[in-house]
Amino acid sequence: MAVGIFDSGLGGLTVLDAVRRRLPDLPIVYYGDNAHAPYGVRTANDIYALTTTATEKLFAAGCDLVILACNTASAAALRRMQESWVPRDKRVLGVFVPLIESLTEREWGDNSPPREVAVKHVALFATPATVASRAFQRELAFRAIGVDVESQACGGVVDAIEDGDMILAETLVRAHVDALRRKMPEPDAAILGCTHYPLVEQAFRNALGPEVRVLSQPNLVADSLADYLQRRPNMVGPGTESLFLTSGKPRQVSDRATQFLRRPIEFQAA
Ligand code: DGL
Repeated sequence: MAVGIFDSGLGGLTVLDAVRRRLPDLPIVYYGDNAHAPYGVRTANDIYALTTTATEKLFAAGCDLVILACNTASAAALRRMQESWVPRDKRVLGVFVPLIESLTEREWGDNSPPREVAVKHVALFATPATVASRAFQRELAFRAIGVDVESQACGGVVDAIEDGDMILAETLVRAHVDALRRKMPEPDAAILGCTHYPLVEQAFRNALGPEVRVLSQPNLVADSLADYLQRRPNMVGPGTESLFLTSGKPRQVSDRATQFLRRPIEFQAA
């Protein structure tokens, strides 16, 4: 009875934490591909190869449903995986759609034609690969019209967080918000389009100011997963144990994870 959560590194822990709060009895197998993070500076082919390898490890650990808690993998690899790679009895879901449904005031799976929505000027903060994919704009265009999106590729932020250098991460966040404001002085909403960014969410909020609504994924993804599992309870796989797996150095990854989640987390090599 396990669900898999994947990220290139530690960012997906923000989603895992929200899922654990929402579904406390659900066994979760987390896989962080820390040896290959960050993904945000890699090519789409490279991201596809790494994401499929990681997803296979989660299938092997007893998960039939895997959440790509990584926008970069969701943007660069998910569609290709769903079209030609995911086995019939498995599911792989991303983190973009719940966010865009919330932004566009839609219920799950509302596929009605695009319409005008309250939000007009949206700032997207994400990795260089996510920004380059334009996946956010594509998903948004299916649901809303008249929304102006300005993206900011936040180079360096994921590396700083993976290294545990939060001072550098917060300095970079301020610089990226300034750069975005030069292109869009008054956004109404800001999307934290990388699962690492909730770890520096306060820095984004301080730099953006109180008038900008900040949308962050962990709770939105947790609600959407709870909803999905209610409709598809058979998608909880045969695994019964919660595990933390990493391709990186387990000691170092465990220390960082413990620092971020403020509770002891023990990763094992996979
Ligand atoms: N947490 C990943 C995301 O949501 C970070 C990607 C990276 O490794 O650069 O995009």
